[in-house]
Amino acid sequence: MRVLGVLCLAAVLPAACGRGDDGRAAAAPSGSDAATPPPPAANRETTVPAEAPGEKGSVTHDAFRAAFLPAASERDDAGRPATVSSGSDGATQAPPTGNRDTTAPAEVPREEGPMTYDAFRRLVEDRRSIRRFTEDDVGEAEVARILEAVRLCPTAGNEQAYEVVVVRDPKRRAALAAAAFGQPWVEQAPVVLAFVALPAVSGARYGERGSRLYAVQDATIAATYAMLAATTLGLGSVWVGAFDTRAVARALECAAGEVPVALLPIGRPAESPAARPRRSLEEMSRRL
Ligand SMILES: Cc1cc2nc3c(=O)[nH]c(=O)nc-3n(C[C@H](O)[C@H](O)[C@H](O)COP(=O)(O)O)c2cc1C
Repeated sequence: MRVLGVLCLAAVLPAACGRGDDGRAAAAPSGSDAATPPPPAANRETTVPAEAPGEKGSVTHDAFRAAFLPAASERDDAGRPATVSSGSDGATQAPPTGNRDTTAPAEVPREEGPMTYDAFRRLVEDRRSIRRFTEDDVGEAEVARILEAVRLCPTAGNEQAYEVVVVRDPKRRAALAAAAFGQPWVEQAPVVLAFVALPAVSGARYGERGSRLYAVQDATIAATYAMLAATTLGLGSVWVGAFDTRAVARALECAAGEVPVALLPIGRPAESPAARPRRSLEEMSRRL
């Protein structure tokens, strides 16, 4: 288990387990800046279920549409997603979903107009993995704002096959940190959001592809939204994926079959690390 933990950490903690930009060997996890790129893919964590093999036979266009458009009850006669008026500005919003969640997204007051690319770019450029937090708390209102953004994330067939567990209890955070091979930031952050995949939900509609892949993707996208939302609130967070899944599931009191996929300790940043390097556009993309 110890060896597994070290391997997992090496996969996700460049500074903890790799070398710094200047070639120095990095120290053990210390909460200090992690400035080197992730290790080669071969070393990366392998606990995420492999993509399930595609369904046999060709997928018809209708089957594809049925799979990914909202459920029939949510569509109008022409097959377009039905919409309902959402009040005075005449804008429309999606109707209640036909599956688990029957509440339309709450109307959150916000500034008019779409976000500009520049603003979005600033957000993603400014975000860092933060592994040191001040003693200050994160308020329930802030958590609610994060969850409200998470709730709007896309999911396969809008099945929303994920759950977010908000963990404040110090003993629980300690248990999560232990399950995450002792990563101290999990315990130090005042709030940890745990993202749990619900394979049975997506599996009921999509079979193995839903239970093995989509549910994990749903929970992962939810965690990504939370991370970015936290950044907009001036909060720091770090994605924690290196953990013993069963121990985390126990600490979260997950039901059988539910799979924790990411922990997000959130707090007020007590460090401002430099941007970690990324591959060039040429390296990270290709064109056909
Ligand atoms: C899937 C995944 C798993 C990760 N697991 C951990 C982890 O267990 N512990 C940790 O401190 N950081 C973890 N990270 C954070 C990465 O180390 C970090 O995102 C990366 O080094 C780039 O740095 P940046 O987020 O500051 O840009 C994880 C990130 C991802 C996306």
